[in-house]
Amino acid sequence: MRTSYDRALGGDGVPAALLPGPGCRLVAVGAAVPASVLANRHLMAFLDTSDEWITSRTGIEQRRVAPAETSVADLGVRAAETALAAAGLDPGTIDTVIATSSSVDVTFPSVACRVQARLGCPPGPAFDVQAACTGLVYAVGLADALVRAGSARRVLVVGSEIFTRVVDWRDRGTAVLFGDAAGAVVVGPASDPGSEILAVRLGADGHGADALVAGSADPGPMPDPLTPDRPAPARSLGRSVRMNGREVFRFSTQVIERLVRELAAAAEIPLDDLELVVPHQANSRILATAAGRLGLPLDRFVVNLDRYGNTSTASVPLALVEAALAGRCRPGAPIGLVAFGGGLTWGGILLRWGETAVGLDDARLSQRAAAAVPAGIQDAGGTAGE
Ligand code: COA
Repeated sequence: MRTSYDRALGGDGVPAALLPGPGCRLVAVGAAVPASVLANRHLMAFLDTSDEWITSRTGIEQRRVAPAETSVADLGVRAAETALAAAGLDPGTIDTVIATSSSVDVTFPSVACRVQARLGCPPGPAFDVQAACTGLVYAVGLADALVRAGSARRVLVVGSEIFTRVVDWRDRGTAVLFGDAAGAVVVGPASDPGSEILAVRLGADGHGADALVAGSADPGPMPDPLTPDRPAPARSLGRSVRMNGREVFRFSTQVIERLVRELAAAAEIPLDDLELVVPHQANSRILATAAGRLGLPLDRFVVNLDRYGNTSTASVPLALVEAALAGRCRPGAPIGLVAFGGGLTWGGILLRWGETAVGLDDARLSQRAAAAVPAGIQDAGGTAGE
């Protein structure tokens, strides 16, 4: 049976086209991840699951967990500082802040207002966008439109998640999927160095709203995943996740294929010329299926969910940062960013890669450096709570 989002994806929307106006750049991208590693084997201490089930069904091997005293805004500030420092930009040059989070601790003040104040950005528009895991792509699309219209000059976009305070740690169907991280992007005018934003494609179909929900029902006491004999730290607002996994899986593979085709069409390039796709990191089987539907080799897709799980709004910038640091973003290459999530929502951005500044703040590496322990001597699984 065709659902309403099948129809919406069927091409009734605005035709994809290169964006008008004087242009807009993705100036910088940064990401921040907390130090504590929660490997699949740690979950087995309190969940009826196995490392084999999680890795074979999702590709996820471990995720990061933020300390109890860290807020969504704290993690977002770290990612933003990393992006700004990489580009050598003063926070005083940011006139607009847009944040997005699927795991907010308070409804207001917005994450954006808290990040703006902490960074010392001048007073100007600061607000949050809610589009579940597509939030960061929505916010970058909005920032692009503001800059093109002359309503903003330089916009800081932040996606920050402490999803480990949202998931129900007693529900093996969802708890194993998510992790904590933040990402930040600076969008600026054509005169800034950076990657050109060539096309933006956003969409949603609320008819699929029930497929993925973070609701308000109190799931009751549950274990702290890092120390299962203790209760979990304070929960965030959307503290009970319900998901129709199969429905979301089917939607995701369809929507990635559609977005990638539309982005290539917008740039009038053969699909095969798209050098890199940076997708939302939900499940490696979703990405392999989408790559197969597109006839693209899987190595064109950036995959880092094995180490971080699904970090919702942070996942695309975190994957882009790692790809760029690994030398996978060739100057001049067309690169597609694609995301999907609850709503149901979807969004894609096409870049022509340029001088985008890139930085990663991995608290695990900083801890090691502080302890003078050479990186790489501990296994990837680490120790829960480390
Ligand atoms: N460990 C062990 N067994 C598990 C498990 C876990 N963590 N989670 C579910 N199972 C069990 C189920 O209870 C079920 O058991 P049963 O056959 O005895 O009833 C069995 O595994 C199959 O469950 P099912 O839900 O059909 O598995 P699946 O192959 O569809 O995989 C997901 C489940 C969640 C991994 C998959 O549907 C998915 O990734 N969907 C997309 C989710 C997503 O990306 N969401 C975020 C989008 S932004």
